[in-house]
Amino acid sequence: MFDGASVRSGTAADLKAMAAIEKSAAIDPWSLSQFLESSLLDSNRSLVLEDDSGLLGFAIYQRVQDEATLLNIAILPARQRQGLGAQLLQSLVERLTRQGVTRLLLEVRRGNAAAIALYRRLGFVDDGVRPDYYPLPGGREDALLMSRELEVDA
Ligand SMILES: CC(C)(COP(=O)(O)OP(=O)(O)OC[C@H]1O[C@@H](n2cnc3c(N)ncnc32)[C@H](O)[C@@H]1OP(=O)(O)O)[C@@H](O)C(=O)NCCC(=O)NCCS
Repeated sequence: MFDGASVRSGTAADLKAMAAIEKSAAIDPWSLSQFLESSLLDSNRSLVLEDDSGLLGFAIYQRVQDEATLLNIAILPARQRQGLGAQLLQSLVERLTRQGVTRLLLEVRRGNAAAIALYRRLGFVDDGVRPDYYPLPGGREDALLMSRELEVDA
């Protein structure tokens, strides 16, 4: 199912390819400068998923002590629905767990059925709603707050 795709830490050299995936995949994409700014923050890190053809997806997260927040995740549209988003998110969960992080939080547009289904499938639960949080053409959209407790070895 995950033929040939592997996960590694993202670097500055990946930012342009990450921004291109974001532009092709997201409803309200981060700009290249948002990727650059995010990468400059000490607390922010990224994981990228790639195969021989290049970058297939990325996840950007922020770690503060024993909590982490998923800030962004995207898979190249042509490679969606092949298990890659789940592979990437599971890799992030494993990495954070090894680092002693106990909770992974995120927020997602209420209308983003694909992302919400992915998060629920990977064990995230609903924590609440931020009403009218995101801009939408012609209106606003709620943010769902979700989280997953991570199992830290005793
Ligand atoms: C959300 C996203 C990362 C999922 O990546 P993906 O590689 O397509 O997801 P996977 O193939 O690993 O799917 C895993 C599970 O998530 C759920 N899922 C994923 N996409 C779905 C969709 N379009 N509709 C319904 N469920 C979906 C399913 O349960 C799926 O398992 P299944 O295929 O066995 O049914 C991808 O759709 C994406 O890049 N979206 C645009 C960017 C975005 O919205 N990011 C989230 C910001 S909060």
